[in-house]
Amino acid sequence: MIYPTILCGGSGTRLWPLSRKSYPKQFVPLVGEETLFQASAGRLVGDGYAAPVVLTNSDFRFIVTEQLAGAGLDPLAVIIEPQGRNTAPAVLAAALFVQERDPDGILLVSPSDHVIPDATGFRAAVVRGLSAVARGQIVTFGIQPTRPETGYGYLELAERPDESGNPVALSRFVEKPDAERAASMLAAGNYLWNAGIFLFSAADMIAAFELHAPDVLAAVRAALDEARVDLGFLRLAPEPWADARDISIDYAVMERATNLAVVPYDGAWSDLGGWDAVWSEAARDEAGVAASGAVTAIDCRSSLLRSESEGVELVGIGLSNVIAVAMNDAVLVADMSRAQDVKLAVEALRAKK
Ligand code: GDD
Ligand code: MG
Repeated sequence: MIYPTILCGGSGTRLWPLSRKSYPKQFVPLVGEETLFQASAGRLVGDGYAAPVVLTNSDFRFIVTEQLAGAGLDPLAVIIEPQGRNTAPAVLAAALFVQERDPDGILLVSPSDHVIPDATGFRAAVVRGLSAVARGQIVTFGIQPTRPETGYGYLELAERPDESGNPVALSRFVEKPDAERAASMLAAGNYLWNAGIFLFSAADMIAAFELHAPDVLAAVRAALDEARVDLGFLRLAPEPWADARDISIDYAVMERATNLAVVPYDGAWSDLGGWDAVWSEAARDEAGVAASGAVTAIDCRSSLLRSESEGVELVGIGLSNVIAVAMNDAVLVADMSRAQDVKLAVEALRAKK
């Protein structure tokens, strides 16, 4: 049985002012009608899939249950992290939770903020990954890189993938390289981007932590052993949890493990890491304008114009390569090429408070 495991503890500052600390991007309908979280959970249903396991924090717990219900999904568990300790402790908590119920359980860990339009194609890629899981490997999904992105992990392929899309062994996992290394990996041609989606047996992931991060294993095991059920949520115990190292699964396990395989995925994928990515995923007119809400665009080109507030009319005249997002209490106007710098705005605003 595959246990879909959805991580939704992040706050997504690059999509400010729509994505807020209290209501981050995964819970907002950014492209289409569903939220990214609903789409992430809704993608992993059908034969062979258990009900989803969701990991989040206390602030988001009711958003999670409401949005699951809205998508017609009933979770197996909503696990509450007393504080954000990044993805390694969260993934491990899910693996331990699953193993207790099903010693042969397989987890498919997915972020809650990605766009993968072809759910059927993606599930077919998951099926291809199962042969590697049966050999004791931890499977990642690899995307053909198109630019020297420094915000992703890179997967070095040990061999050339064939047409079948079957799993290929990995010789190395490089998390978030600097610009120079990213450029050389792109040029080398035998690297894929890590999509941030992982498939593995609970037992293999626990064994990987035993080997590469035993301190995290001890803390998370204790936090789960002492967890309590509260209104249907499974709350991890705060004290042992606080001892879990704040580290991502990519640094804690993926960069160290040697039993890694990748399933190349050639369907569309985007992690919506900024407004430029939202613009390229959104429906656009022939001039390249993606407008939503109360927006009037006059002679605009290649721009994203969103009014997120019913009371705010947004008018753009003669704009090109501009991002404009209007909310009730905040307005962002930025050059498209500076989309990644929106996180700087959030830092500057926090510093002012
Ligand atoms: N439950 C929980 N708890 N979820 C978390 C936490 C946490 O403490 N921290 C992050 N998440 C969630 C985020 O909401 C997101 O859905 C997912 O985990 C991944 O975290 P990100 O913070 O978005 O990671 P990243 O984008 O920097 O990097 C990862 O994804 C890239 C692809 O988008 C890495 O796996 C990279 O290697 C990968 O290329
Ligand atoms: Mg991300």
